[in-house]
Amino acid sequence: MTVFPKGFLWGGATAANQFEGAYNEDGKGLSVQDVTPQGGFGPITEEPTEDNLKLKGIDFYHRYKEDIALFAEMGFKVFRLSIAWSRIFPKGDELEPNEAGLAFYDRVFDELEKYGIEPLVTLSHYETPLHLAREYNGWANRDLISFYERYVRTVFERYQHRVKYWLTFNEVNSVLHAPFMSGGIVTPPEELSQQDLYQAVHHELVASALATKIAHEINPEMKVGCMVLAMPAYPMTSHPLDQLAVRQFENQNYLFSDIHVRGKYPNYIKRYFKENNIEIQFADGDEELLLNHTVDFISFSYYMSVAQAHNPEAYTSGKGNIMGGITNPYLEASEWGWQIDPVGLRLVLNDFYDRYQLPLFIVENGLGAKDELVEGPNGPTVEDDYRIDYLQKHLVQVGEAVKDGVEVMGYTTWGCIDLVSASTAEMSKRYGFIYVDRHDDGTGTLARYKKKSFDWYKEVIATNGEKLFEEQ
Ligand code: BG6
Repeated sequence: MTVFPKGFLWGGATAANQFEGAYNEDGKGLSVQDVTPQGGFGPITEEPTEDNLKLKGIDFYHRYKEDIALFAEMGFKVFRLSIAWSRIFPKGDELEPNEAGLAFYDRVFDELEKYGIEPLVTLSHYETPLHLAREYNGWANRDLISFYERYVRTVFERYQHRVKYWLTFNEVNSVLHAPFMSGGIVTPPEELSQQDLYQAVHHELVASALATKIAHEINPEMKVGCMVLAMPAYPMTSHPLDQLAVRQFENQNYLFSDIHVRGKYPNYIKRYFKENNIEIQFADGDEELLLNHTVDFISFSYYMSVAQAHNPEAYTSGKGNIMGGITNPYLEASEWGWQIDPVGLRLVLNDFYDRYQLPLFIVENGLGAKDELVEGPNGPTVEDDYRIDYLQKHLVQVGEAVKDGVEVMGYTTWGCIDLVSASTAEMSKRYGFIYVDRHDDGTGTLARYKKKSFDWYKEVIATNGEKLFEEQ
């Protein structure tokens, strides 16, 4: 018997800048991604350069019909995509939207509707229009709130009868670690003051509450969620100060969901602000907006966990998704050093649910790995048992959390079709069920091939997760 609730939303996730390509077609303006050829941590180029794989992505812009047909074949109930803000408002501060950009997403939603796939739309997935970054310093500037307001109102009005689920900012907490990619802030991180950084955070949080308000006013059927990068931490030892280090690390992330769900700044951050001479400027109405327009659900990405200690210099620290931590000797890591921890997902689900009692949506999870294309009985394929193993183990833990009583709405694997990596801009860091013939040097036919995991996920969905437990 499956433990997954009836109507569980199974599917996959993507982001416009990592897979659409067509970076300057039909009136699209540039986004911050178009000038970071080596990934979100820089360097930043003056103009888009040919070596930037994101400019062409995997050409979903022209191949969306073929790709959505493959998602439908796997039985997707939901498909997560982002709207590229700079397709709708090319510079970000115009008064009128670009109709060709809006029409593109109409075509995508038509196609999803054809197969009964529910769209889940991220409004801002590391895609701040470049003009807003260069002219305004991104979210460090309060003006961004009104530009975002105009953009979200436009897309809510346009798609209100087609899109029910919306996410305001991808991994909203990542702005603390990747200010340019996440917040369009051009001030170099080493020169960016904590005051300005947390003020940018405040602007995003207010914008998120405003978006939630507008969505509910336009159509109360629309559900708006926050999206946070979840990364549980374990203490390296039972030393109380190690546990305190864990708490402080996790509070940096909880800060964002606490405000989205409870509508006010928690006391622990007020202490931090005081001790670091940070004084957030609230405009009239900010407090009420945050308090009265909290989210309908919580979504998060989960790839890995870390360890923390009060004396981190005594240990080896590892790389991770945007942020990292001490290497946990009990865990193995992916080829990119991200520590693999299925049980951590159960813990995260329980922690969020205990804290907020709101429905949870896992909108990213998956294994970035190097795949080898081989000749199979039905043509080229990838024998990606390692990916199946990763997803299987994580989904079993989702099942455990459901048994614990956690309300889980759905699960979308990251990069359900191979796409360009956010952190490194590589093509060879693949997550998909569908292989895309494109390489780090930009060569390749862009042909799509089903990997072994394609049929596996199809069966997981068809059995509403029962297949996961059969294999136990
Ligand atoms: C998340 C992002 O941080 O992780 C995605 O929301 C990203 O955009 C994903 O692609 C995986 O990270 P990476 O760096 O392997 O692409």
